[in-house]
Amino acid sequence: MKILIVGSGGREHALAWKIAQSPRCEKIWCAPGNAGIGQIAECVDIKAMEFDRLADFAQEKGVDLTVIGMDDPLVGGIVDVFEARGLKVFGPRKCAAILEGSKAFSKDLMKKYNIPTAGYETFDDPAEALRYLETEANFPIVLKADGLALGKGVLICADLDEARDGVRAIMEDKQFGDAGNQMVIEEFMTGREVSVLSFTDGKTILPMTSAQDHKRAGDGDTGLNTGGMGTFSPSPFYTDEIAAYCQEKIFQPTVDAMAAEGRTFKGIIFFGLMLTEQGPKVLEYNARFGDPEAQVVLPRMRNDLINVMEACVEGTLDKVDLQFEDNAAVCVVVASGGYPVSYGKGYEIKGLETVDGRDDCFVFHAGTASRDGAFVTNGGRVLGVTATGSDLKQARAKAYEAVEKITFEKAFFRHDIGKAIDEAPESAR
Ligand code: AMP
Ligand code: GLY
Repeated sequence: MKILIVGSGGREHALAWKIAQSPRCEKIWCAPGNAGIGQIAECVDIKAMEFDRLADFAQEKGVDLTVIGMDDPLVGGIVDVFEARGLKVFGPRKCAAILEGSKAFSKDLMKKYNIPTAGYETFDDPAEALRYLETEANFPIVLKADGLALGKGVLICADLDEARDGVRAIMEDKQFGDAGNQMVIEEFMTGREVSVLSFTDGKTILPMTSAQDHKRAGDGDTGLNTGGMGTFSPSPFYTDEIAAYCQEKIFQPTVDAMAAEGRTFKGIIFFGLMLTEQGPKVLEYNARFGDPEAQVVLPRMRNDLINVMEACVEGTLDKVDLQFEDNAAVCVVVASGGYPVSYGKGYEIKGLETVDGRDDCFVFHAGTASRDGAFVTNGGRVLGVTATGSDLKQARAKAYEAVEKITFEKAFFRHDIGKAIDEAPESAR
């Protein structure tokens, strides 16, 4: 099969790497891709939001399946454009991708179908939001821009003053652009976070193994929010009992709710969960693989990814036996100094060859380019170094051993990715 992947980050590198292992895969293109992806796929200079150009390309090359990695094109309706041309494409249509594209939509859906989530109110008028905060809110409280904001449109406010500033930033100064036309004000929850990515064909939903992300830039969850500084999988806190509860009360009800709304969802639903004292609750939905969750989940997946994706598109996911290795994986993201605010580009990356040929350690490129035969940095998140091991402790030790050997000017990474596993019962580490 000829496959086209849309996107350019570490997630898309992991997707290309996994798809390349399928005996059914003949050729992979990635648009726009990056230098690391270019080692296993042919990168095409078309941007992810150029739907017609991408569809033209898929038609010209006889692409058999297009896989959309990123949120923006999904929310913008790329799948509808491909389907209208009779092209096979993996991902939700625009009417379903709204599950990620609008937090107000997803909160209303959860309320209507009794899916556990934090209590909330939605506002499209900043004055009303302020009135609510002044008269009814308990602090801390969470403000969320309705639309896509690169994972940065969520503000946790300790008191009324911070919340006032937050409303101004989101709704008046439009710090997140049109994403702030509407806002959700949500109850603050505490607990451990877990990411569960799942495949769905609109009827059946098959959750993948769990993962945990580290969103803040600095050790000990300090500093600014980022796209994700590292992940581990599985989460030792996501027990079989919790998984069964989520399947019954959250996963299947979400798929059924979308179908009942005439918004049948096919593709990946990523459940951002918080394990609270009252049970698991949904923090957010995403309509695609997580980045860097994909970098720890896909290396543990036994199935041929093309087969599973096809089953989602064709509505035959009930025939798939989704399986994961009984091991663990840890991914440490190496970023460029100054990320997530401002950072330089073009620093030469050294030491990549130290993992060449290993089957327990992989470097997924997030923001790289090639220059004179070398790899150079070309983004804030530069690399994700994933290691697998028989358990989380071993995977973590191997990931950090590999990370230490890869260097570039101003590189930084968190030293505590997966440290939370020390708090899990010994048998689950
Ligand atoms: P989201 O993009 O909605 O997942 O939010 C980003 C991050 O903000 C989450 O990963 C949580 O750490 C935090 N967060 C979001 N909503 C809440 C909430 N209701 N209570 C506490 N923390 C939250
Ligand atoms: N790692 C979080 C996300 O992909 O949204």
